[in-house]
Amino acid sequence: MYICDVVKMIQMEEVSIKLNFKRLMTSELSRNDSILREAAISAANRAYAPYSHFNVGAAVLLNDGTVVEGNNQENIAYPSGLCAERVALFSAGATFPDKPVMALAIVAIKNGVVQPSIAPCGGCRQVMIETEQRYGQPMRILLCGTDETILVASTQDLLPLFFSF
Ligand code: THU
Repeated sequence: MYICDVVKMIQMEEVSIKLNFKRLMTSELSRNDSILREAAISAANRAYAPYSHFNVGAAVLLNDGTVVEGNNQENIAYPSGLCAERVALFSAGATFPDKPVMALAIVAIKNGVVQPSIAPCGGCRQVMIETEQRYGQPMRILLCGTDETILVASTQDLLPLFFSF
């Protein structure tokens, strides 16, 4: 049987994907999650964002408690810059390749004020998925806002149909 015959036999089906996350007051964060949020805030305050004036900070928690910070690094040739999440994850991978990543907190600051929670861009989600797969365990994501924070238990809940081969 040829592959085209197999394809013809498949009935079209509509598929729905359920994504899970928790929304909570920032004041309800655990002590450790609060510390990670603060690290992301301090990273955001050191961002290099002279073009967008939109500072993003990311803090990566490793399995031994080490926290690695990153922030957006912009460039006059716009695509040459990099998002905070990837700066943090690549820095963690470059410095501590053998330490699994347990969690990633993300925060945005504009005009010195923490913004409502932002969700990572598609490129960062793809990198987050691979980080999770590399270490074979879920990475918690904290989308930290002002009063509200969103907790995602695994990157698969942020990018269900990710690229792989
Ligand atoms: N940015 C991030 O750092 N992370 C994201 O997930 C989305 C956007 C940065 C890129 C750019 O420096 C600025 O935010 C405005 O887009």
